[in-house]
Amino acid sequence: MSAPTWDELGGPLPKNEFKIASEAIVSNIEQVIEGKTATVRLAFAVLLAEGHLLIEDVPGVGKTKLAKTLARTIDSSVRRIQFTPDLLPSDVTGVSIYNQETHDFEFKPGAVFANLVVGDEINRASPKTQSALLECMEEHQVTVDGVTYELQTPFMVIATQNPIEMEGTYPLPEAQRDRFTARIAMGYPSAQAELAMLDGHGARDPLTGLKPVADANMIRRMIAAVRNIHVADAVKQYAVDLVNATREAPDIRLGASPRATLQLLRTARAVAALDGRDFVLPDDLQVLAVPVLAHRIIPTADAQLARRTTDAILAELIRRLPLPHDRGRSPYDTRPPVPGDDRSRYEQPRGM
Ligand SMILES: Nc1ncnc2c1ncn2[C@@H]1O[C@H](COP(=O)(O)OP(=O)(O)O)[C@@H](O)[C@H]1O
Ligand SMILES: [Mg+2]
Repeated sequence: MSAPTWDELGGPLPKNEFKIASEAIVSNIEQVIEGKTATVRLAFAVLLAEGHLLIEDVPGVGKTKLAKTLARTIDSSVRRIQFTPDLLPSDVTGVSIYNQETHDFEFKPGAVFANLVVGDEINRASPKTQSALLECMEEHQVTVDGVTYELQTPFMVIATQNPIEMEGTYPLPEAQRDRFTARIAMGYPSAQAELAMLDGHGARDPLTGLKPVADANMIRRMIAAVRNIHVADAVKQYAVDLVNATREAPDIRLGASPRATLQLLRTARAVAALDGRDFVLPDDLQVLAVPVLAHRIIPTADAQLARRTTDAILAELIRRLPLPHDRGRSPYDTRPPVPGDDRSRYEQPRGM
């Protein structure tokens, strides 16, 4: 199977079509997931940023439901893996089986051979099985018995885990959490959303009748459009400064990696596109700091003792970091920023 050419794909999705398609996708998901617009948009942005998503929260807040609804909304191949202690790495990647009739080995693809892979309760699998999945996520390919198989595009893993239960689970080590572009918490719904859920879900599950509103090719064209989103040099510098600040902050023992910087910028492009812009604002990076960076950072023992959360530490870093046009200001300068903070400075120069 050869890769489709640009003609078959149709090229990057134009701005107006992008808007229609993305709104249709988000509102389709919201027919099932009540009152979580920001979370739904972020999950979709991670798909458009060619990343993987970790949904971490207590039981019963709709983690699995969000993963399944996103998968159903896009007409593409979907596999779901329920992680358990006896799940084997080969269940994830695939296995070569000897065929008696042809006297040859045949490859039986594992669960990662799909566009969207829902890995439920990832912290229940053994570290060996977890790392089999995480390797595929990074490399977009699988090697079994010396033969390498390419995975499909788009390829997104949506893993869920419960941070509370400790017994019989294997928390993901930092090196593996780093593979996830973003980590989101669902949070409890508002009282109003919970009421709407009771009405909408009382008789039957709204996911059952949900129809896809986009296909894999549409997502590939949206991804191509996101790759074209302009990022001004000053904004790139701001991303580097932001990630660097996590490495230098006195409250942080382990800062974010260069992989994090790359994924931060990619996700910012997706968020800008979903917002209808063709350029990234420093605000996009600020909004994404917690979902993209927090799960990769380890606070110092002192900060943990003082119950300073990574979210609070990141918020403080952002507050101190001068905005791109404020370059040269000290992070400790508390005077209000100079007026004229207009967005146009980040737009792509005309004629490019
Ligand atoms: N925000 C929400 N909107 C709609 N349904 C929700 C929401 N939060 C929880 N639910 C419902 O609660 C139930 C449990 O959700 P589930 O995804 O299985 O939870 P988790 O995987 O987080 O344990 C599902 O029936 C789901 O539809
Ligand atoms: Mg679940």
